[in-house]
Amino acid sequence: MKVLGISFSYRHGNSQALVEHILKGAKDAGAETELVRFCDLEVKNCKGCGFCKSPGKDTCSIKDDMADLYKKVNDADAVVFGMPVYFGRMNAPAYTFIDRLYAMLNPDFSPRLSGGKKTAVAVTCGTGPAEDMEKIGAYISAIGGFFGWESKGLIYERNLLEKDAIQKCPDKLKEAEKLGKSLTE
Ligand SMILES: Cc1cc2nc3c(=O)[nH]c(=O)nc-3n(C[C@H](O)[C@H](O)[C@H](O)COP(=O)(O)O)c2cc1C
Repeated sequence: MKVLGISFSYRHGNSQALVEHILKGAKDAGAETELVRFCDLEVKNCKGCGFCKSPGKDTCSIKDDMADLYKKVNDADAVVFGMPVYFGRMNAPAYTFIDRLYAMLNPDFSPRLSGGKKTAVAVTCGTGPAEDMEKIGAYISAIGGFFGWESKGLIYERNLLEKDAIQKCPDKLKEAEKLGKSLTE
């Protein structure tokens, strides 16, 4: 069982720490885990060129680090997404990743990625409402619907403005580990 974590936190901060603890829970339960720090990769935005939907093509025209990430997502049994709230929604790198998933859909919108994956989402924010993070969780679940992914849970925490503020929330980190374990069941 392979569990892939993708962190969209530029500063490798609170949301990434939640992803790391989800991965820890999965690893302790016997899974093979890997963390990808998306903001360390070079991934350009989808430009809507249509190459991925043209006859005989099955991937993106853009040659960058996304090629390797498509492979990692395809090979994973479960994928964990972690991102901060920026201005009431997920931050820009998370949108870049989602837009680039378009190349993993056939012209009839059936998936080009292997099915049956489980997903979990970890979101952190400052003083904004929990509702913003619930919306992000629901949005990722909806995107997963295109690929037949099964959403196993959303974990979030508020009032985390400082980079490592989540370290003062041991209960939340434990909850993340529990969520990680659930991905292996
Ligand atoms: C550009 C920017 C916009 C932000 N917008 C919000 C916001 O709308 N609501 C909120 O509660 N926190 C907001 N924050 C705070 C972050 O969501 C919060 O610090 C989060 O824990 C950062 O996650 P990270 O440590 O993984 O980077 C914003 C931070 C930045 C840098």
